[in-house]
Amino acid sequence: MAAGFITGGGGERKDYPGKMTWRMVITCIMAGCGGLIFGYDIGISGGVTSMAPFLQKFFPHVYRREELNSGGTNQYCKFDDAMLTLFTSSLYLAALVASLFASFITRKFGRKPSMVFGGLVFLAGAAVNGFAHNVAMLIIGRILLGVGIGFANQSAPVYLCEVAPAKHRGKLNMLFQLMITVGILAANLINFFSAKMSNGEGWRVSLGCAGIPALIFLIGSLCLPDTPNSLIERGKLPEGKEQLRKFRGVDDVEDEFNDIRLASEAAKNVQKPWSNLLRRKYRPQLAMVVLIPFFQQFTGMNVIMFYAPVLFKTIGFGSNASLASALISGGVNCVATLVSICTVDRLGRRFWFLEGAIQMFICQIIVAICIGVKFGVSGNPGELPVWYAGIVVFAICVYVAGFAWSWGPLGWLVPGEILPLEVRSAGQSVNVSVNMIFTFIIAQCFLRMLCVMKFGLFIFFSGFVFVMALFIYYFLPETKGIPIEDIAEVWKTHPYWKRFVDEDDDAARKSRFSGV
Ligand code: BGC
Repeated sequence: MAAGFITGGGGERKDYPGKMTWRMVITCIMAGCGGLIFGYDIGISGGVTSMAPFLQKFFPHVYRREELNSGGTNQYCKFDDAMLTLFTSSLYLAALVASLFASFITRKFGRKPSMVFGGLVFLAGAAVNGFAHNVAMLIIGRILLGVGIGFANQSAPVYLCEVAPAKHRGKLNMLFQLMITVGILAANLINFFSAKMSNGEGWRVSLGCAGIPALIFLIGSLCLPDTPNSLIERGKLPEGKEQLRKFRGVDDVEDEFNDIRLASEAAKNVQKPWSNLLRRKYRPQLAMVVLIPFFQQFTGMNVIMFYAPVLFKTIGFGSNASLASALISGGVNCVATLVSICTVDRLGRRFWFLEGAIQMFICQIIVAICIGVKFGVSGNPGELPVWYAGIVVFAICVYVAGFAWSWGPLGWLVPGEILPLEVRSAGQSVNVSVNMIFTFIIAQCFLRMLCVMKFGLFIFFSGFVFVMALFIYYFLPETKGIPIEDIAEVWKTHPYWKRFVDEDDDAARKSRFSGV
């Protein structure tokens, strides 16, 4: 029944029957809302930490330093404070640890329980933060939010990759990233208005409103069915087949069902997915789930996302204007993601990875030159002409667009789709953990790095962007349109990776690893 077709020299690959159904689209939008809570959080902290009443209440020494500095002197260093950055970054440490636990739940009990739990804990974190009276409450709230994000990011991208038919998997998975960008934009907007509240409690509104995306995600997850792959993996064959029929909108799902069943048989033999992931035959997947999130974070994108208001303030915008500029970059981030959603299943993953890297590289160099020329190493720009700041904002927006249609969504799509079922949950946890650890490092170190490296910071990130483009060019095979349980085949024809997954090689090794 399956219509066979050849893709990219990887041998015969299947195209299962099925159509794009409304049920599928709505389900994917709901699961994508996992990205909403992540995005809200990314977007909210930068704005809150640039609000004077927030600084006065929780970080008075930073506030005093900022006041002292407002007349000039070293703009690069005025926000550099370890406690303030810990507020932003504590969440990512919590998310990192949580995603490791989530792996177990996602594998044993399904993708849905992890998503529901993630939504619930995030909701609790929003409440603690909204009512915070001291720094401890702030940090505890951030940790709860982090646990929620760890669970959501571990399960939602996998959920999307599993329910989507191969030829639409790219765009459906990217709904997760789209929701991240909607979350960031919503947070920027809320910050913009709450910063104007005259009672000085605007920061509470900003932090407390995280409850809204949490509720949306929680209710959405409660309404979702689990994925056919997870149901089948857990031995619920009739339910798995029924869900597959509903998702595909056709009765004949025999071929796809059988392939998932075979993959799940293989998965059942794997008792220790973590150590299994270290086996030689999974080396390509392991390399991707470590290096893609690493490079995604070293694009430097989160410097803009977390600290856009602070950054714009640093380059001479007033408080309101900096939040407005952050709003502009947030809007660009959201719209540019749509470009990728519409084209990724046609143009492929490699095309966007490479295009995005070139675009980001050029913009980073422009920003470094603009800031370097005006601020020099002393960090004192004097009077910054409006047109000059305008060029910087424009270059930052083009950079953001480059990320938003490449490394942003692909950083969640590609690791999620290349993992075979037997190591999918563990591999996705590695992906989330690596993403979170480097998000943490960037969040924690950016203000210090800006203070030390000055405009050179942008050159530093551009170096990583250059290397990551080479990495994709040489090491990532194209995965568009290939059914998820067949993707393992692509490594067998790849000039570098084939030696790792060579079947004979593997058979020889199997006996050595048979205790694992
Ligand atoms: C990244 C985040 C980033 C966001 C920006 C996501 O894919 O994982 O770290 O802040 O994109 O849109």
